[in-house]
Amino acid sequence: MAVDLLLGLQWGDEGKGKIVDVLTNNYNIIARFQGGPNAGHTLVFNGKKHVLHTIPSGIFHDDATNLVGNGVVIDPVIFKKELDKLEEQDVDYRKSLLISRKAHIILPTHRLLDAASEAAKGKAKIGSTLKGIGPTYMDKTGRNGIRVGDLELSDWKERYRALADKHESMIAYYDAKIEYDLNELEADFFAAVDVLKSLTFIDSEEYVYQAQKANKTILAEGAQGSLLDIDFGTYPFVTSSNTTAAGACTGLGVAPNQIGEVFGIFKAYTTRVGSGPFPTELFDDDGATMAKVGHEFGATTGRPRRCGWLDLVALKYACQVNGVTQLMMMKGDVLSGFETLKVCTAYKYKGETIKHLPYNIEPENVTPIYTDFKGWSEDLTGMSEASQLPDALNAYIQFLEKELETPITIVSVGPDRKQTIFRS
Ligand code: GDP
Ligand code: IMO
Ligand code: MG
Repeated sequence: MAVDLLLGLQWGDEGKGKIVDVLTNNYNIIARFQGGPNAGHTLVFNGKKHVLHTIPSGIFHDDATNLVGNGVVIDPVIFKKELDKLEEQDVDYRKSLLISRKAHIILPTHRLLDAASEAAKGKAKIGSTLKGIGPTYMDKTGRNGIRVGDLELSDWKERYRALADKHESMIAYYDAKIEYDLNELEADFFAAVDVLKSLTFIDSEEYVYQAQKANKTILAEGAQGSLLDIDFGTYPFVTSSNTTAAGACTGLGVAPNQIGEVFGIFKAYTTRVGSGPFPTELFDDDGATMAKVGHEFGATTGRPRRCGWLDLVALKYACQVNGVTQLMMMKGDVLSGFETLKVCTAYKYKGETIKHLPYNIEPENVTPIYTDFKGWSEDLTGMSEASQLPDALNAYIQFLEKELETPITIVSVGPDRKQTIFRS
C-alpha cells in the first residue's frame, strides 16, 4: 500500500493536527517524519483541546499505531510532558506509540545553544521556538548527534557528556550571557530519558516496509510548512528540516515511488510566526480581525502570529514542490464578515509582473498584486454539508481550485473534529 502524506503548504499552523485526527479513521498507522517539539498540533473534540508537539496526531484513536520516525528530533523532557498529559486523558499510549531508533535526541545544551545563537543574531534572529531544533539537526548532519538507539548502549552517558561539554564551550563562545543551571536541566533530562526508554524503540524503516507489504494504510504527518523548508523555504528564516514531501521519504525510509496521495493543508488566509519575509502581511484592521477571530497565537510558544491575505503565488509553489494531489482549506469561518477578500495572484518584481516565487521575497523586492473577491457574511461554524456553503465562498474555492489545478476536498469551518466539510 502506498503511503499518503499530509503537509502544511504555508508557514506552519495550517491545521495539520486537526485534519490528521479527522483522517485517522482511514489509516492503520500515523507517522511523523520530521521536526520536533517546535511543532504544536491542536486537536479539538468532545469539548476539549489537546496540543501535541512530537507525538503523532493519531494518538487519540485506540486502533491506530503512532510512529515517531527517524527524521524527527525528540526532546525527552517535552516528550515526557506530552505522555503525562495523555495519561491524564487515560490514553493507553504504551501499545500504540513506536519510536524510531534513528531519531535524534535534543539535549538540554541544544536548547541553550539555540538561545545563545538567537541572542547573538540580535535583530537578525530567526525567531526560533528555542526548542533546540537547529543545533540538534546541525549535530545530526555534523555526525555528532545522539540517537534514540544509542540510549540502549552502555556508554551513551559518556557520549552525552562529551557532546554536552563541547556544547558548553560553544555557548561560552557566543558570549550571549544566558544563565542556566546545567545540573538542574540534566536531572530533568535523565529522568525523562528513563521514561523514554520504557517505550518501544524500533527499526522504523523496516517496520514501515513490512507494514506496506502487509497492506496497512499509512499517513505521514508533516510538521511546520513548505515555506519553512530548509531548502525551499524563505531561507534563512526557516526551520532545519525538509518539511516538504521529500522529507517524508528520508524521514521514514519510504521510497519515492511508494508515495500515494499528497494532502496539502492551507489556511484561507496566511499566517506566520517568527521572523522572515511575508509579502501579503497586513498591518491594518483586516489583519487584526484575522488574528482576533482566528485566535492566532502559536500553539507552542504562545507568540502572536502575523496575519495576511492568501498568497496564491506561494501556494502554487508549495503545490509544485510537494506534488499535492488534494487540497484542504482551513479556517474559512474566520473570513466571514469581510466585505471584500483579497488573494495575491502575482508579484511585482523588479518592474515586472511575475507569477512564480523568486529567490528573494523580501519587501524591497516584491509587491503583491491582488485580485478582489466578494466576501460572505454567513457564520460557517455550524455548517456540515458542502451544499450549505455560501455562493461567495464557493466562488473563492472554485477560483483557487482552478488556479492550483487541484481539488479542494475538505473545507474546515472550525477547530472541532466535527466542523469538517467533505467535498466530492
Ligand atoms: P498545526 O500546527 O498545523 O496542527 O496547526 P495549529 O494547531 O498550530 O494551529 C491551528 C489553529 O487553528 C488551532 O488553534 C486549531 O484549533 C485551529 N483550527 C483548525 N482548523 C480550524 C478552522 O477551520 N477554523 C477555526 N476557526 N480554527 C481552526
Ligand atoms: P507546526 O508544526 C509555525 C518557525 C519558528 C521560526 C522558524 C524556525 O505547529 O506548524 P525552529 O524552532 O524550527 O528553529 O524555528 O520556524 N516554526 C513554526 N512556525 N508552526 C510550526 O510548527 C513551526 N515550527 C517552527 O517560529 O520562525
Ligand atoms: Mg502549529
